[in-house]
Amino acid sequence: IGPDVIDIRKLYASTGKFTYDPGFLSTASCNSAITYIDGDKGELLYRGYPIEQLAQNCDFMEVCYLLLNGELPNQAQKTEFDSRVTKHTMVNEQMNFFLRGFRRDAHPMAVMTGLVGGLSAFYPDSMNLMDPAQREISAIRLIAKMPTLVAMAYKYGVGSPNIYPQNKLSYTANFMRMMFGNPCEEYEVNDVLVRAMDRIFILHADHEQNASTSTVRLCASSGTNPFAAIAAGVACLWGPSHGGANEACLNMLSEIQANGGVEKIGDFINKVKDKESGVRLMGFGHRVYKNYDPRAKLMRETCHEVLNELGLHDDPLFKIAMALEKIALEDEYFVSRKLYPNVDFYSGIVQKAIGIPVPLFTAIFALARTVGWIAQLNEMIADPEYKIGRPRQLFNGAVHRDVKPISSR
Ligand code: ACO
Repeated sequence: IGPDVIDIRKLYASTGKFTYDPGFLSTASCNSAITYIDGDKGELLYRGYPIEQLAQNCDFMEVCYLLLNGELPNQAQKTEFDSRVTKHTMVNEQMNFFLRGFRRDAHPMAVMTGLVGGLSAFYPDSMNLMDPAQREISAIRLIAKMPTLVAMAYKYGVGSPNIYPQNKLSYTANFMRMMFGNPCEEYEVNDVLVRAMDRIFILHADHEQNASTSTVRLCASSGTNPFAAIAAGVACLWGPSHGGANEACLNMLSEIQANGGVEKIGDFINKVKDKESGVRLMGFGHRVYKNYDPRAKLMRETCHEVLNELGLHDDPLFKIAMALEKIALEDEYFVSRKLYPNVDFYSGIVQKAIGIPVPLFTAIFALARTVGWIAQLNEMIADPEYKIGRPRQLFNGAVHRDVKPISSR
């Protein structure tokens, strides 16, 4: 296929042999034209556009349009797309009864996995994954409803009434109002914080064939409906090695703070270097980036802006994060393994400063990644080589045994 790529299907067809590649370290699972990562250069492009330029010049809705359609929208296309999404932000009232079945202290990702999958029950008119028109309306519904569902999960957890979406607000301002608004008062939009949240959405919108995206593709490859496939993505994202890392990272920073703060970072680093301890520096390292994650740079910039806006220049967690980064970037253990901060290293500090509770971080990641999952799912279905995903295995169990009667086992 290319200088570094072998089409293993040809080998399989001629010899019946297949490859063994746990963790997909050297296996491309699909063709894709959506997101490009050069892990050595630390480069990330959505549809060819550098993430830095998108973060600087576009809002999340434009990025959604780009990921779904392959091109950035002009003004008329953006207005139309915004308005379509806005019209679908409400969720069926019955979803509230479903929500009430959860414990109030349920983890938001447990709630989100249920709610997103539950949407399938409300849209029998957009269940057919093979119909492009049904996929299109499902995409709009999912993108539009994710902020409403995340805010519902949050408000339910704290026992506050739901705030319904307001059509005159932008996608992200609407989300902030549903999260932090109070039905008795007018919500005042803070542009700096909305912009920061919007940037979090942009930076998390897609990241090629990561675990949750591959999950969505594999799940949808069976022809299941889009809501079920996205719910599978939400479930996969929850893990601490993936989307759950932002929560784990903030918990780690808080633990360092509780155990002596910046002064004690050396002890923590030593613990990380001791493999026996099983402790990892959360928010560090990446399967593909073996250079600085470009999203981490943008997030660090946003972190400064948000802390300045909120007068939190002396935020102890930010200080710990900066000090950890400095030490790790000079330490042989991290340098030799090419371990650099990833997007989650600073995103937790930004979200915490904005007022997002830590257990909700991964749900916000899921909200942002929904568009990427859908774009990838659409691309897979439209691919002429599309097939149900069916990995092979290297069987290493017993080959043949006879069942003895229970009395003689
Ligand atoms: N802290 C300490 N050591 C690490 C870390 C870390 N965060 N990450 C990797 N290493 C070490 C490993 O112990 C291993 O060392 P060894 O060669 O001596 O055995 C080496 O670096 C390679 O690590 P792998 O686990 O093989 O790398 P892999 O590519 O499989 O894992 C991953 C990538 C899962 C992201 C890993 O770096 C990690 O666990 N990081 C912390 C969790 C995290 O931040 N995840 C978010 C990823 S970004 C995202 O999902 C949005």
